[in-house]
Amino acid sequence: MSLTVINHPLVQHKLALVRDERTGSKDFRELVTEITMLMAFEAMRDLELEDVEITTPVQGATVKMLSGKKLALVGILRAGLIMVDGILKLVPAAKVGHIGTYRDPVTKQPVRYYAKLPSDISERRVFIVDPMLATGGSAVDAIAELKKAGASNIKLLNIIAAPEGVARVQQAHPDVEIVVAALDSHLNDHAYIVPGLGDAGDRIYGTK
Ligand code: PRP
Ligand code: URA
Repeated sequence: MSLTVINHPLVQHKLALVRDERTGSKDFRELVTEITMLMAFEAMRDLELEDVEITTPVQGATVKMLSGKKLALVGILRAGLIMVDGILKLVPAAKVGHIGTYRDPVTKQPVRYYAKLPSDISERRVFIVDPMLATGGSAVDAIAELKKAGASNIKLLNIIAAPEGVARVQQAHPDVEIVVAALDSHLNDHAYIVPGLGDAGDRIYGTK
């Protein structure tokens, strides 16, 4: 079981702006994309490298390039889409899967309406992305779907997590490493993260 909180000053500064209710959709999207790229930098620290021979304009050199398992990014709709875009800027060759889930407003349980994953997902390192880990229901469901498809090497990236969501994922899927930019205080009566940032999907897409 592992939880990494990325408390780098750049991440924390951008996260403060994201949380601010005065931040509009355009800036919100840009900031979430930037935070995701900074998080990916840490989350992908253990990617394997191999020696490759090249020639620089000066002389031959042995350099390091990515090797090993290829990557798959899986965005939980809707809000995860913006994080997929951020990581794709860093690893454009990654394949992308989508899992469509919304929380039932009354029960707070995840309702899955869509799933499309790369056919070779079992051979890939998988990074699930979703800005919010609240009750953990959506993430637990998405991880189960990925495991059903054969994925075994899975990391979960969230911008903000609640302790309740982290505990739920760790209990259901102790093999999945969780990487977050902030671990907040608790969930409120509506299962929103406190202090959080509000409804991520609505703030990204301006739907409220
Ligand atoms: C949000 C968020 C997560 C989920 C987290 O999506 O993007 O997917 O809630 O909550 P949980 O941990 O309690 O499951 P939402 O259900 O609002 O769907 P949307 O992105 O389509 O608006
Ligand atoms: N989904 C969100 O978008 N925000 C929360 O705080 C909880 C669930």
